[in-house]
Amino acid sequence: MQRSHNVTMLGTGLIGLFYTMTLHGQRGRDRVRAVYSRTAERAQAFASEWDIAFATSDMAAAIRHPDTDTVVIGLPNHLHEKAVRLSAEAGKAVLCTKPLARTGAEAKRILDIAESAGIFAGYLEDLVYTPKTLKALASVARGALGDVLWVRSRETHSGPHSDWFWDLDQAGGGAIIDLGCHCIEIIRSFIGKGIRPVEVTCWADTLVHPITAEDNAIGLIRFANGAIGQFEVSWSFRGGMDLRDEVAGTKGTIWLNHFLRTGFEMFTSGDGGYVAEKAEQDTGWLFPVGDEVSELGYVDMFTDMFNAMDQGRAPRESFYDGYVVNAVIDACYKSARTKQWEPVLIEDWRGQTDARPVTGMKEEIDGMQLVKREHMPDGRIKLILRDKGSGKVVQRFEDA
Ligand SMILES: NC(=O)c1ccc[n+]([C@@H]2O[C@H](COP(=O)([O-])OP(=O)(O)OC[C@H]3O[C@@H](n4cnc5c(N)ncnc54)[C@H](O)[C@@H]3O)[C@@H](O)[C@H]2O)c1
Repeated sequence: MQRSHNVTMLGTGLIGLFYTMTLHGQRGRDRVRAVYSRTAERAQAFASEWDIAFATSDMAAAIRHPDTDTVVIGLPNHLHEKAVRLSAEAGKAVLCTKPLARTGAEAKRILDIAESAGIFAGYLEDLVYTPKTLKALASVARGALGDVLWVRSRETHSGPHSDWFWDLDQAGGGAIIDLGCHCIEIIRSFIGKGIRPVEVTCWADTLVHPITAEDNAIGLIRFANGAIGQFEVSWSFRGGMDLRDEVAGTKGTIWLNHFLRTGFEMFTSGDGGYVAEKAEQDTGWLFPVGDEVSELGYVDMFTDMFNAMDQGRAPRESFYDGYVVNAVIDACYKSARTKQWEPVLIEDWRGQTDARPVTGMKEEIDGMQLVKREHMPDGRIKLILRDKGSGKVVQRFEDA
């Protein structure tokens, strides 16, 4: 049975706004009933704008409000643990934005708090819920790509919009913790969340901004079945927000572009208005995003979270997923320092322990292993074959 849910929204910044726009946007049955912000004035202004009955600058009072059953955390990273603890004490369902925490240890504490309280806990990783990603994941699950070998996920923009992101203590890191967390969960989703991330190698540097955290990074994650994940993140990319994923499998390929080339291109010499998050211009050639909260996955994400609560099942994205992501990020930071492959340390692995290696080519022709078959410009089919005994590689034409 579908129930309507009453939400305490913690935070009235960018994500608090996107979440509230999503919940109140399309005549949905779930509503924000209480809102917390750092100042009473901001909380009240947000409440008036979104028709929310209770506004406060007291986080605990917002969480305990008797009219709400679910707490949504849209606060800076260093406040997630406190907000989850207060929600658990209040016995309410809790949905926490990404990253779950600043470190794997903090994420594990958050996971333990929620699990020992027995409350529903969902990880708000919107980018695995974009309509394109959901359809792509369904294709992969159907076997359309064969075995997934390599997933590349890229998120880059010119840098975050608030002071606390740039502060290592409050954020826990730079572009990796902020953007890499999305990429890592996208990669896990395509490779299979039951496949263990084993080790990582990562380059990170502070190239542009006067900060201590990294503003650019690239990481490789090796999974137990041999598949590889590649993330690319930047806080200094110019030209908007570049959100792209590529999935390569033994039978197929998927390319996803979520933001800059979505099929909507506009030129104006006048005023383009609000174009999309992190767009750097509102004149000239523009790449507007139609319905941002839908295209970024927020609509399907909240639908899954509330449906999961009503159906007594786990959501697609759980606090455990958030913890695994933080564990991968910890290994990335270590690898960036040591310049070595570093193991991903997961205290409590719940996935497969005997992952089947990705399947290589198995076809044989006349007792030889097929390496490659190619249709040549002259119409003939060329075969590259390997002799199993000698290892010698030869070529011939199929009809020869
Ligand atoms: N795609 C996504 O899922 C996505 C996008 C943006 C941000 N986020 C996450 O949401 C969280 C909040 O990010 P945001 O972009 O809304 O930030 P923001 O700076 O726009 O808003 C922060 C909110 O937290 C409140 N706050 C309470 N205590 C604070 C403190 N000590 N310092 C700063 N703010 C304080 C502020 O009043 C404000 O309402 C972060 O964890 C971030 O990673 C997720």
